[in-house]
Amino acid sequence: LTPLYPDRALIVAVTGAAGQIAYSLLPLLASGTVFGPQQRIKLQLLDVPAAESVLKGVCCELEDGAYPLLDHPVLYTSVADEAFAGADIVVLLGSFPRKPGMERKDLLAKNGTIFRDQGQALNRVAKADAHVIVVGNPANTNAWTLSQFCTKIPKEHITALARLDHNRLKSLVARKLDSAVSDVHNVIIWGNHSATQYPDVTYAYTPQIVQGKMRAALGGDSQLASEVIPLIQKRGAEVLALRKLSSAMSAAKAIGDHLRDWMFGTQTENEIVSMIVPSDGSYGIDKGLMFAFPVQCHRGGKYRIVSDLRIDDFSRKYIETTLAELRSEREEAMRLVSKMC
Ligand code: NAD
Ligand code: LMR
Repeated sequence: LTPLYPDRALIVAVTGAAGQIAYSLLPLLASGTVFGPQQRIKLQLLDVPAAESVLKGVCCELEDGAYPLLDHPVLYTSVADEAFAGADIVVLLGSFPRKPGMERKDLLAKNGTIFRDQGQALNRVAKADAHVIVVGNPANTNAWTLSQFCTKIPKEHITALARLDHNRLKSLVARKLDSAVSDVHNVIIWGNHSATQYPDVTYAYTPQIVQGKMRAALGGDSQLASEVIPLIQKRGAEVLALRKLSSAMSAAKAIGDHLRDWMFGTQTENEIVSMIVPSDGSYGIDKGLMFAFPVQCHRGGKYRIVSDLRIDDFSRKYIETTLAELRSEREEAMRLVSKMC
């Protein structure tokens, strides 16, 4: 990977940096796995004051990792303006995590103020061309809230993570077909990062299964509806129930994949990945709604929504369901935002 900035360190701000996703993500950033083996990295880490000692310990471990690309000292703070100052990339993990049995909607109120405050802080101190990824749940709507308070950064620079769901689907297809993961292309996640998301294999292919035949190869639509789709929709809950903690290692890997593709471009001209981005109106999705779409990326943080896929009745039904959920989350967030203003 040709470095994005050959003459200076890339500044990466990470919130929730004392948490469990960060513990898997920071080594990927510091080692060059995400931004390449020649890109120097400066980390600016944020967490709440109560997590200061943990965060300091994480910084000790980053020092002890002796990463050649990492600038020292690593900045750690509980002041958002300090963490976001001058950042090129902003990774927003910090949020109130879902506990077993808790509904995602319960998180909206808890996280609304966090993402308002961080949107305002970004507005004050971030670079106007910073690139932001929201991971903290409910990720789509947190990203929407952030973007309402952060007008300095172009809306299309604010994204959220659907890549974990995308990777889960890709891996499941590979396992079902006994293929290599790298041979599976163009699975798609549509909509919300929640149990209503639509994991879609309609346009997926492998060297053995040509485009258009994947639904049949996986057992046909009834098999998809009863097994494959719910498995991906509920995978996060499955991991949470097993670990008593939400996915972290796989989430960190997915964040790295999202950032690398976004900043350096998707691997081939026709490769599709899934990202939560503001809708441009494609597929009848309300303009501005943060929705997981099929996208193709080009070096420098550019992407385009792949907007010309034919959607049949089977897929449309799922897309409508996740769209309805996101509309209602946004309505709730709008209510909260108008109270906050
Ligand atoms: P965690 O609880 O281990 O860590 C979260 C950290 O955020 C904690 O250290 C906490 O102190 C910190 N924090 C809380 N409020 C903050 C604030 N205002 N500013 C800065 N830091 C703050 O959680 P985790 O496992 O690392 O997960 C982080 C989030 O990512 C959760 O919301 C989780 O549900 C979500 N998640 C999303 C996906 C996805 O695919 N979108 C996948 C996995 C997890
Ligand atoms: C996941 O998909 O694993 C997480 O988003 C689950 C969660 O709610 O934290």
